Amino acid sequence: MLVGSTEFKEISEKILRLKSERNAVILAHNYQRDEVQEIADYTGDSLELSRIAAGTGYDVIVFAGVHFMAESASILSPDKTVLLTEAEAGCPMAEMITVSGPRFYSTHFPGAGKEFCYIYPEDFSLRDIKAKYPGVPVVSYVNTSAEVKAESDICCTSANVVKVVESLDSRRVICVPDKNLAAWAAKNTGKEIIAWDGFCNIHDRVSLEDVAAARAEHPDALLVAHPECPMEVLEKADFVTSTSGMLRFCRESDGKEFIIGTELGLMYRLKKDSPDKSFYPLRKDMLCPNMKKTTIKSVLRTLEHMDCVVKVPEEIRIPAKRALDRMLEIK
Ligand code: 13P
Ligand code: SF4
Repeated sequence: MLVGSTEFKEISEKILRLKSERNAVILAHNYQRDEVQEIADYTGDSLELSRIAAGTGYDVIVFAGVHFMAESASILSPDKTVLLTEAEAGCPMAEMITVSGPRFYSTHFPGAGKEFCYIYPEDFSLRDIKAKYPGVPVVSYVNTSAEVKAESDICCTSANVVKVVESLDSRRVICVPDKNLAAWAAKNTGKEIIAWDGFCNIHDRVSLEDVAAARAEHPDALLVAHPECPMEVLEKADFVTSTSGMLRFCRESDGKEFIIGTELGLMYRLKKDSPDKSFYPLRKDMLCPNMKKTTIKSVLRTLEHMDCVVKVPEEIRIPAKRALDRMLEIK
């Protein structure tokens, strides 16, 4: 829907009215549609949204994002009602690791042989990996289920993975589930990382050919990439950071043109944030179908019906919160 259209304005007015009646706050991830970003109270990366969820004074948190994000909000704010705007909006990477038993989805790690990684057969779970490396701390990316977080020592996001891994008093660290984020942590910390072979299908598809084509088309542009991209792409990037890190980098940089290696939803904020600069996608198909499930109408429906409640049972929430709190303590 076109931001500013009559329909957009009518729906926005209804949302604002319901939001005040319910004492609700709307949080939207940077990959959300333009119309959703416009109606949100806060738009941010996973780390920023976790911090906001942990400190909010509202009764209701409407989360426009994917399931693990709403789950994190519920873990951090158990006395609030947390609503996910679309019940089916999940993150396939988060489903690539389970606490026990087979994972839902698997792939083979194409970088077999890279020294920082161990390759696991497909039926391995987090408990198996912990049993194989007793005493080795587990860092779980926030893109995981509450159960996986509950079995982890600490969480991380793409914004703080290096600081989190460095904070651990151990030479070896288990990092799940993203193989690319794990490789990035290994490169930047010098620690031995025991990685899982999960990946984000949107970021992992980027290749050196894409980099070469984008650089040829935009020779003066700086390349900014998300650490979920493969290492060979990250090595070619001028800067590697989270989605909100990209916003800051592009705003503060003297550069005028940027090639953006992440999901296309960020382009809206980048253009709004730095209107005098130019942004080009690294690939034109970097669209997360789960992030795009939410529309402004989903936000309205959520507030009308108070549906898609996300609530984590206490026996999982308490250990999961410990891992998230430990991450949030790192500045
Ligand atoms: P950020 O934390 O960088 O916003 O990333 C979240 C995510 O899902 C990336 O695909
Ligand atoms: Fe998950 Fe990738 Fe979508 Fe992020 S972009 S929510 S990691 S599938």
